[in-house]
Amino acid sequence: MPIQKVLCATALTSWPNDNAVFDSRQLLDSTYRPVVVLDSGVGGLTLVRQLEQLAPEVSILYVADNGWFPYGSKSVATVACRVQQLLDQVCTRVDPLAVVIACNTASIALIDHGRVPFTKGYFLVTPPLEEAVRASANGKIALLATLGTIKSKHISTTLAKARTRAQIWPIAAQRLVELSEYKLAGQPTSLACFSELIDRHLTTGQRLEIDTVILGCTHFPHLLGDLKTLFPSAIKWIDPAKEVALQIASSIKINISTLGPPPRTVIFTSMPGTRNSQHAFSNYGFHAAYSFLT
Ligand code: DGL
Repeated sequence: MPIQKVLCATALTSWPNDNAVFDSRQLLDSTYRPVVVLDSGVGGLTLVRQLEQLAPEVSILYVADNGWFPYGSKSVATVACRVQQLLDQVCTRVDPLAVVIACNTASIALIDHGRVPFTKGYFLVTPPLEEAVRASANGKIALLATLGTIKSKHISTTLAKARTRAQIWPIAAQRLVELSEYKLAGQPTSLACFSELIDRHLTTGQRLEIDTVILGCTHFPHLLGDLKTLFPSAIKWIDPAKEVALQIASSIKINISTLGPPPRTVIFTSMPGTRNSQHAFSNYGFHAAYSFLT
């Protein structure tokens, strides 16, 4: 998909209706070399929240691939090609300090298809099964992730290894991705349908014994409060974004800007639906928005 033609806005509160060309000059400025964060929607904001605590001076260019949302119900091959294509396009226009695939589904799709860019400065978010096994006191663990993640080769292999030391229940919780989008858009959400889905995987007794939950999708930490009611005995909530944010913060060198707060820009890949995300992105300090024409 060409990204030469984009719509742009200077503020999330006023959306563009004129065509303009994406201007990457500001982002190419060495003062503002951004960290590129990619996700299908608002999931990557959970990583942004972690990163801003460790590196508040960093500029962020967020690619929200809303045109292809959700990734989790698409084939891993499709997602891998799509993400590769987006990254190639974005990286021809900006010179990022780091690129983070803030999406477990996309990271795993790249791994499954041997497309991981093994160059310095690339970071993937994946469900840390080993960390969960170490953290769990009773070896009863739930892995919440998208359908694509649960079905992936990478997860089957890592699950097989981890299951020699713990009982792990993988739960494809695709519905939670949408609920997370609704929640951040300020709409009412209920996890009632999700609790029915859990009942298909676990007996009540098993659910109440779970002491560790892996948040295997970056959308899920947005729903942490609701999830805690479903797993009342869980004391460890494993969110891989924390560790990845630490790795990014310790690997980048930032030129502290004297020009005020670093810019945060969000690029949407499709115009329809972006209004729902304005609220979420503006709450996270994203003042400018660009949208590709598809
Ligand atoms: N946030 C993405 C993840 O971490 C998935 C969302 C989707 O299904 O598009 O897996």
